[in-house]
Amino acid sequence: MLRDSYNRAHTYLRISLTDQCNFRCVYCMPNEHMKFMPAGHLMNAKEILEIASLFVKQGITKIRLTGGEPLVRKDFKEIIEGLSTLPVELTLTSNGVLIEEHLETLKKANIRSINISLDTLQADKFARITQRNLFEKVYKNIVLLVENDFHVKVNSVLIKGQNENEINDFILLGKDLPIHIRFIEFMPFTGNHWDQSQVITHHQILEQIGSVYSYQKLEDAKHDTAKKYKITDFKGSFAIITTMSEPFCGDCNRLRLTADGKLKNCLFSAEESDLLSTLREGKDILPIITQTVLGKKFSQGGQFAPSFEETDPEKLVNRSMINIGG
Ligand code: GTP
Ligand code: 5AD
Ligand code: SF4
Repeated sequence: MLRDSYNRAHTYLRISLTDQCNFRCVYCMPNEHMKFMPAGHLMNAKEILEIASLFVKQGITKIRLTGGEPLVRKDFKEIIEGLSTLPVELTLTSNGVLIEEHLETLKKANIRSINISLDTLQADKFARITQRNLFEKVYKNIVLLVENDFHVKVNSVLIKGQNENEINDFILLGKDLPIHIRFIEFMPFTGNHWDQSQVITHHQILEQIGSVYSYQKLEDAKHDTAKKYKITDFKGSFAIITTMSEPFCGDCNRLRLTADGKLKNCLFSAEESDLLSTLREGKDILPIITQTVLGKKFSQGGQFAPSFEETDPEKLVNRSMINIGG
């Protein structure tokens, strides 16, 4: 087991496959950081499988593939076929555009649950946020996943002035379809111009939903990032990821591998350890992994103020979201 100094066992690995994306959301991919990683710096399919296998031997039971957009990797099929041979729950977070093209591959790899990012239900706003006119395609792919019995979670990052007026429109999505909406508090990453005044908090979200619907709290699993709720008679549910207003680091079980093979022990860690270079030198990467886990800070990479309103985004040492994978 990969335990940190707070005795937290790490069983969940998020692997970013690429820093490339077919969208251009400014809050995730800052313009000034649009220089992509050179292909040779990325883990290839064989290296991904080798590193992932080692993590599985150390007790990892769940692997989530992220990006950028994981489905833009040309060798996605090869990667997922390899990973599907490991005894883990395999899943991914995607922007949804290429789902139809990969549907059979995803089914064959026995993926049962997929998270899709969607910040608005209005086609014109979607085009403004993503700089791509692809709302219909993403929406159709969400329905396609539901029809094919995938457990579908829809991630919506709420940013003040952008989409908080759509909270109850998202809620309605779950009326007739078993879709699980997650509202995410906007988080600061390098170059995304985060400001505390743009955060819509857990409390504010519930207030808006409560003004129209009556909801019940559902039970959360130990390592969940989201606080789950249900509206009577709705097929779906909703949840809130409260990183900023109510961090949930106490039970953290997550590690992250960036597309260029660096291990981050937290979403907000300043430090990262270069597993890929060591692997390519033919050396053992396990001691680096163990050390990196032991060096994990209790909460938010040790970089946040006790209240998010006092956190200075300029002082955070991290990557942009597109380079981490969420
Ligand atoms: P599940 O495995 O379904 O729980 O997914 P997830 O919510 O962990 O992953 P997803 O990729 O869908 O991310 C949704 C949001 O949660 C994104 O904004 C992520 O940045 C955020 N998130 C994921 N993991 C962590 C974490 O360990 N800490 C914090 N603070 N946020 C996280
Ligand atoms: N704050 C919160 N969530 C974010 N995501 C991207 N950028 C941010 C941010 N600044 C979300 C995406 C995706 C998930 C992996 O992370 O919407 O669903
Ligand atoms: Fe874990 Fe860091 Fe996320 Fe907290 S912010 S839950 S410590 S990864």
